[in-house]
Amino acid sequence: MGDRVSPTLLVHEDADSVARRAAGLVLRASMRAADERGEFCLVLSGGSTPQRLLTRLSDEPVEWPRVQVFFGDERCVEPDDPASNYRMAREALLDRVPLREDQVHRIRGEEGPERAATLYEEELAAWPRLDMVLLGLGGDGHTASLFPGGPELDEARRRVVASRSPAPPRERVTLTLPAINASREAMFVVTGETKAARVAEVLAGSDLPAGRVRPTGRLVWLVDRAAAKHVPGEGRLP
Ligand code: 6PG
Repeated sequence: MGDRVSPTLLVHEDADSVARRAAGLVLRASMRAADERGEFCLVLSGGSTPQRLLTRLSDEPVEWPRVQVFFGDERCVEPDDPASNYRMAREALLDRVPLREDQVHRIRGEEGPERAATLYEEELAAWPRLDMVLLGLGGDGHTASLFPGGPELDEARRRVVASRSPAPPRERVTLTLPAINASREAMFVVTGETKAARVAEVLAGSDLPAGRVRPTGRLVWLVDRAAAKHVPGEGRLP
């Protein structure tokens, strides 16, 4: 693999300014990918942090006909379940922008973890390299559905596997580190003081799952001041 780049840390005042900057960075990446390859493969993260970003992104002048939307992970629930990452993305972004159904690649978690992982691996085969992977950071240092001590962390071949979360919904499907680290860019979007200790730990080089995200492409940590409070120097201001 190519040399690992060191992360770019961007610190903004609050969650809303982080969401605005993140939406701008996604727009810029989409324009670059569309110019260079005619298509932009965007991987959405789950949880609650991305909602603000995705809503902001729906207002950006993205060339949506050139975008393919994927998911970094999913809970094994129905797509209309309140815990579904797809449902969150549909409400915050997908229902607000002009995307054909075949441009949105949902992880079919309702099929169960192993079958959903196999189906998604097959679907991803047509896109060997993803352009931008959005990621969050869990309080235990997990990212996507790659959890501390989970066997999924050691997956070296498959791009999609089943995993188990310590918190419900326990059955998950997730991109693996090989899939994430083969991307052109990975961007963590993290806000709030509750994440500050983990942000500092990961950026200091810990071996937590989030610390193992070292793409051969660009790595960006986009955080608010609260989440950066334990980072020496609090990163480079925008
Ligand atoms: C998920 C996410 C997960 C999330 C972190 C942070 O399915 O839960 O993929 O990795 O990004 O747990 O979640 P919050 O943004 O809700 O803090």
